[in-house]
Amino acid sequence: MAKLWGGRFSADTDALMKQLNDSIRFDIRLWDADIRGSIAYAGALAGAGIITRREAAQLVKGLRAVHAEFAAGAFVVQPGDEDIHTAVERRLKELIGDVAGKLHTGRSRNDQVATDMRLFCLQAIADLQAQIAQLQTALLSQARAHVTTLMPGYTHLQRAQPITFAHWCLAYFWMLARDSERLADCARRAGVMPLGSGALAGNPFAIDRQALAAALGFNAVSQNSLDAVSDRDFVAELLFDCALLGVHLSRLAEDLVIYSSAEFAFVTFSDAYSTGSSLMPQKKNPDAVELARAKSGRLTGNLLSVLTMLKGLPMTYDKDMQEDKEPLFDSLDTLALTLPVVAGALDTLHINADRMRAALDPAMLATDVAEYLVRRGVPFREAHHLAGRAVALAESKGLRLNELSEADWRSVSNQFEPDVRAVFSFEQSVASRDVAGGTSLRAIREQIRQARAWLRKAGKHSH
Ligand code: ARG
Repeated sequence: MAKLWGGRFSADTDALMKQLNDSIRFDIRLWDADIRGSIAYAGALAGAGIITRREAAQLVKGLRAVHAEFAAGAFVVQPGDEDIHTAVERRLKELIGDVAGKLHTGRSRNDQVATDMRLFCLQAIADLQAQIAQLQTALLSQARAHVTTLMPGYTHLQRAQPITFAHWCLAYFWMLARDSERLADCARRAGVMPLGSGALAGNPFAIDRQALAAALGFNAVSQNSLDAVSDRDFVAELLFDCALLGVHLSRLAEDLVIYSSAEFAFVTFSDAYSTGSSLMPQKKNPDAVELARAKSGRLTGNLLSVLTMLKGLPMTYDKDMQEDKEPLFDSLDTLALTLPVVAGALDTLHINADRMRAALDPAMLATDVAEYLVRRGVPFREAHHLAGRAVALAESKGLRLNELSEADWRSVSNQFEPDVRAVFSFEQSVASRDVAGGTSLRAIREQIRQARAWLRKAGKHSH
């Protein structure tokens, strides 16, 4: 079939040039968005009196038939199909004849592809949010099972203060909650409809853009036709959201890689999410989370790729922008595979509570020793110094901090009474941090309530 734009050309496209130019190979996955957009556009043309109601009905019927072919996996791409837009139009003409040629009236592939991409992104965002919620649910159920499971909390990967495993799980829950909220925010801007902007200067046929936007589920129409066809901010934003989500997954993954090592042995991965070594029979490797850690590389790369592509592009549409698709699709595919695997690995993760507890060291209560002095009126700076001296004394004597004698404590400061021994309870330390967001059982239970409410609310919004 003749090219959509063939009128002014007399010679064929070079074969390799055609290969470079064609995007059907990857943009075929816009088929649903493309056909939905066209069905709505046929209605808008009829509404503006540019085509008859009968013609619109023919177009819609034909488009539905093409849609059904794609849905059934029966659509056959032809060598001349340059991209998804030309493929759909070519097939439409085969099915309904010349009236198919009226569909593109006043429309350009420039406003069409921008519309398709936005519709596609809106669906992708909803899917991503559902996958994130699945991982959050896994974290939440581990948290609920381990509200009193003590473990060391780290800064600089050095033992810092006792926490509970629930608190660790919920920290990642809230990171993911922000990722999901960022996506919702991205959807607000992606939900602005460019259709009706033509190639760049607007649509001359007085189509009702508001009605068109409502029919397609957009929340607004674009204000400037030039901006509308050249704007790919929503792609860059979505890629950023994916990249940061990937960074969060990589941090979760790294914690679990460390915690699953024999030296820590805080957690054990189920066989379903581990693999072995071809050489060392004893090995059980945490591949699921290692790959989750690694994927942040390509997610970040895809963002950089699109930002770099967009930089310095002149108004308005430029063919460069065709290169927004593969990075976007790759990031979405990467997360669609990684998120459920990480969720599964967490769901089936065995927690070795004894090992976590055994890793607690009384020195991690040195802060609590300082707090003991503070409660007796000693200024914190001085209390911190005195607790530090007690740590040094214990170290010099080869004792653990809780093994210092009454005389030892007295030698550091006469503010230390025999009741300083009561400080040496990890349970007490965790319980004492009873502020909102703290480690006490009450605070953790409240946090779990908030997390469940967050998930309920997110579930409602997604449909
Ligand atoms: N395949 C193109 C893309 O993805 C569609 C838009 C083509 N527009 C054009 N003026 N050649 O960007």
